[in-house]
Amino acid sequence: MLDLFSEEAPWQEPLAEGAVILRRRARDRADALLAAIHDISAQNPFEHRITPGGHRMSVAMTNCGDFGWSTDSRGYQYTEQDGNSGHHWPPMPALFRELAQQTAGEAGFSGYNPDACLINRYEPGAKLTLHQDKDEKDLRQPIVSVSLGLPAVFQFGGFERGDATQRVLLEHGDIVVWGGPSRLRYHGILPLKAGIHPQAGAFRYNLTFRRAF
Ligand code: SIN
Ligand code: FE2
Repeated sequence: MLDLFSEEAPWQEPLAEGAVILRRRARDRADALLAAIHDISAQNPFEHRITPGGHRMSVAMTNCGDFGWSTDSRGYQYTEQDGNSGHHWPPMPALFRELAQQTAGEAGFSGYNPDACLINRYEPGAKLTLHQDKDEKDLRQPIVSVSLGLPAVFQFGGFERGDATQRVLLEHGDIVVWGGPSRLRYHGILPLKAGIHPQAGAFRYNLTFRRAF
């Protein structure tokens, strides 16, 4: 698909109290972000984790930062090491940290200092069912989520799984920040449609920054 809008300045779209989409906010540095994802995944490859219920996740994951999120038969947890390789997660690149700090501030959450970055890779058909991010210690800290590559439909719901959801298309360079009264809202990603993105190929990538501890 031709990128006709790359000149467009970023703009904000409120989602709910404490939640906002910063459209195209990461576009000017997308190539550097994708190169860093490539380097991190060369050290700690993307894996399809198995949930405590025994399901293989369709989204492939890796992490960088002091802590990484993963799941296995024992549950969901943040760890300092990759349970598969036994290695520490690669450090969080300054480029990642600065983007998360700046954009959290723009969304009204100053002083954000993430210690974990989950990197999700979606292939066609991959999805993330509605869930809450609630494995973090300090729920006053927001989530910063950066979308790269193929577009996907993000669902943003309420505080019960069955609540109505908003559906918004997240495109290359879009950032969603949610915290405060929206911190525990259910959210998810509908199955990815196949396509080829000029910078990211057949995938969608998502960086999810958290303050885990
Ligand atoms: C997540 O909830 O961890 C990821 C959401 C996304 O891929 O946009
Ligand atoms: Fe999440």
